[in-house]
Amino acid sequence: MKLWGGRFTKETNKLVENFNESLSFDHRFYKQDIRGSIAHVKMLAKQNILTDNERDKIIEGLNSIEADIDAGKLKFDDGSEDIHSFVEAHLIERIGDTGKKLHTGRSRNDQVALDMKLYVRDEIDELKDLLYELLSEVLNIMEENKSTYMPGFTHLQKAQPTTLAHHFGAYFEMFIRDFDRLVSTRKRMNLSPLGSGAFAGTTYDLDRDYVASILDFDTATRNSMDSVSDRDYLLELLSDLAIISMHLSRLSEEIIIWNTDEYRFVEMDDTYSTGSSIMPQKKNPDIAELIRGKSGRVYGSLISLLTTMKGLPLAYNKDMQEDKEMSFDAIDTVKSLIKLMSGMLSSMKFNNERMAKSARGGFTNATDAADYLVKKNVAFRDAHEIVGRLVLYGIENNKALDDFSLEEFKNISEVFDNDIYDAISLKTCVEKRNTKGAPGLKAINDEIEASRKLLESL
Ligand code: ARG
Repeated sequence: MKLWGGRFTKETNKLVENFNESLSFDHRFYKQDIRGSIAHVKMLAKQNILTDNERDKIIEGLNSIEADIDAGKLKFDDGSEDIHSFVEAHLIERIGDTGKKLHTGRSRNDQVALDMKLYVRDEIDELKDLLYELLSEVLNIMEENKSTYMPGFTHLQKAQPTTLAHHFGAYFEMFIRDFDRLVSTRKRMNLSPLGSGAFAGTTYDLDRDYVASILDFDTATRNSMDSVSDRDYLLELLSDLAIISMHLSRLSEEIIIWNTDEYRFVEMDDTYSTGSSIMPQKKNPDIAELIRGKSGRVYGSLISLLTTMKGLPLAYNKDMQEDKEMSFDAIDTVKSLIKLMSGMLSSMKFNNERMAKSARGGFTNATDAADYLVKKNVAFRDAHEIVGRLVLYGIENNKALDDFSLEEFKNISEVFDNDIYDAISLKTCVEKRNTKGAPGLKAINDEIEASRKLLESL
């Protein structure tokens, strides 16, 4: 059944019907569509546009439709154009002529704007819960690894020693910003578009703020033209999701590197790895690779919707129907990415000895050797030069700084003394770094405490 048959004398072309329909994907927000319709009829009755009796009949009919869909008794296979037409057609079939009054003072343009907002709001809440779990997992790793030494890298070259807690602290920051972004996207979008009609409002005395309040919106939107043509909140969400997947992709990349035989910093659990069909020895980090790889489609959704929107004149245009599949795909994808990352992290084992050994090699304490000289009144630029010569000597003789004899130190600079060994030990290099945000024990304890408080305040 069509909602707009009256003006037409011919049947729609079949190809056109298939091309135009959205029921195959917008059925996923049937609950939100019904919730919105119930709020609409409650308001219509409050404003004496419908009788209480009509309201109750419609609500009962809508509830029975929802229950039958939930139970799998009512399928989305009747050829309706979209979920709005589907629900209305079944309502009329069930309760007769009263059902025809549901759409009073409403257009599918404000209806779909409402449904999508209700749907997205629920999804944002789920995304926040999933990020919260991931943040807790990251914080656990931090708490357990305050003295797990590892090399820190710049240019993927060993740079200075740090700890696993410090390294994961960086991801905690990224994910907490992601969480914040979702909160602010949700806050900005939380205005109800219902009652905007096709775009110009209506002559009925609708109480838009009442509808907004029973649907948990802060208030109703201000401009009815904007209300039906605004998809900014989806673009914001897609951009939030793109950034989340970028963060997950960076972490995946590190895990993939750490999992190589060359590094062996981590051991992936069997439950989170896969094998090769030809090479019996292989245990591959497919999950980390897929998390990294799927960031591509999430970025794609953002770019697609930006492109779809950029040339649209006000107000509603059917192009906007395209907002759904890409948003759904990005939301579904990122939800599974976050879940899988949490599971992968909690099942993964860190090879603490390998990491500490690696932190010791590669002259990661060269900066500290230079700082040692500075503390003995050598100018930093000279100290840098002296330690550069030490490193060169070390490379030529295949020796770490810690393994030099005092004589070898003194050959390059007389300033060195016995206390150099303590000054460049791994423990000193890490533990003495206690500026705010640094890996030293005091600093990382402060960071963890602040992060814990932040998490508890969410
Ligand atoms: N399926 C449409 C969409 O997703 C619903 C709105 C249709 N409105 C219209 N005037 N054709 O955007």
